[in-house]
Amino acid sequence: MKRGSWSSKLGFIFAAAGSAVGLANIWRFPYVVGANGGALFVLVYLFCLFLIGFPIFLAETLIGRTTQKSPSGAFYALSGSNIWGFFGKMTIITGFIVSCFYSAMAAWILGYLIEALQGKLANFSSAGEIAHFHDSLIGSPLWTGGFHLFFQGICFFVLISGVRGGIERCNKIVMPLLYLVLITLVVQGLSLPGSWEGVKFVFEPDFAEVTPLMFLVAMGQAFFTLSLGQGTMVTYGSYLSKKEDLFTSCLPVALMDTLVSLLSAVAVFTIAFSAGIEPDGGESLLFQTLPLVFSKIAGGHLTAVLFFLLVFFAALTSEISAMEPSIAYLVDRFKWRRSVAATLVTAAVFLCGLPFAFSSNILSDAHLWGMNLLELIAFICSSILIPIGGFLAVVLVGWKWGISKAWTQFSEGLSPRLVSSPLVKTYFSICIRWIAPALIGLVFLNALGVV
Ligand code: PHE
Repeated sequence: MKRGSWSSKLGFIFAAAGSAVGLANIWRFPYVVGANGGALFVLVYLFCLFLIGFPIFLAETLIGRTTQKSPSGAFYALSGSNIWGFFGKMTIITGFIVSCFYSAMAAWILGYLIEALQGKLANFSSAGEIAHFHDSLIGSPLWTGGFHLFFQGICFFVLISGVRGGIERCNKIVMPLLYLVLITLVVQGLSLPGSWEGVKFVFEPDFAEVTPLMFLVAMGQAFFTLSLGQGTMVTYGSYLSKKEDLFTSCLPVALMDTLVSLLSAVAVFTIAFSAGIEPDGGESLLFQTLPLVFSKIAGGHLTAVLFFLLVFFAALTSEISAMEPSIAYLVDRFKWRRSVAATLVTAAVFLCGLPFAFSSNILSDAHLWGMNLLELIAFICSSILIPIGGFLAVVLVGWKWGISKAWTQFSEGLSPRLVSSPLVKTYFSICIRWIAPALIGLVFLNALGVV
């Protein structure tokens, strides 16, 4: 059976950007910027992206493009060792777990979008009122579980239509819309009175010191936002033809992803500050603070719809990319038909995602280390499993497979100007072989309290 593939380099760019741009850009980025010193954090983040995130992104897509296999087969093919094959499987499992809890979060977004369409998100008079409204929604298992099911239904529809006819087409429709909505929100935010305070909040450094925690948060953000460490980019790379230039396929993705993060922060903070509200972090930003803001500004009803539509688009294209490695694995390894694999994976994600969907109601008493099930799994994935997955990818490319073989493969399809550029080669080799693994290691040691 013929494997799926993108129709062109552009197909990859759209799909990878769709994967990268997600809840981490629109929801998480604005508040981590706010909570970690504004512009200074943005700088640290860009630094992590350049030295760790982007090199791992290149390494993962290269692993996929070279082998044209899903992560488990790909890791095995490049190393010839079963252990590495197992590591590849581990990244697929991480992707699967991410897709389970991500769907439970996306379910809230979908639910809020429906509320916004009914005009219910712009009539609040106090924070208490919206908190009550929010609690009553997420307190209902029918609401959280139902939207989780609805969201998986939409993902299923995309995934079963194939790599090109489903994922690529969905991203080509949704991503331009996402940019359009985002730009509309930024323009609206900037035109509101008092919006400048919001811009300053994001871009004006408060001259706090750079702390190790800032690095930890920035690195985690860079990993999660580029969908690294969990088989997604390996799989998406495996659908890319060897003729294509990998560097210029990946660069626009990282740039677009960064741009969306920055613009989202501007949109959120300008709109919030103009209403005189200092946004806080976490769950309440999206589901409580913003609806209060929408209730205060002119045209809040439409803004609410646009905003939740934006987040929904972002979550959808990311979720399908988190589910795809599992599907690719079943198709590659067991030669299953894509329709069968997509059905099984969707059903499994739905079932395994239920405990997270119920973490705010039926299972709200289940707590560990002060976190509910959803928070706990998100923490384990983003702080442990994903960095390990990224670490494995660069060690595989830089050491086990070997950087010179990797560079030879990487050069394939690369424009002659880039092949002969010492800058690109040095960046590729040094970051993948030394800097990225060392910095991830350092952050881990720090988290363990060794450094
Ligand atoms: N990159 C997505 C985001 O920013 C999250 C994601 C992680 C998607 C892993 C797919 C796989 O929200």
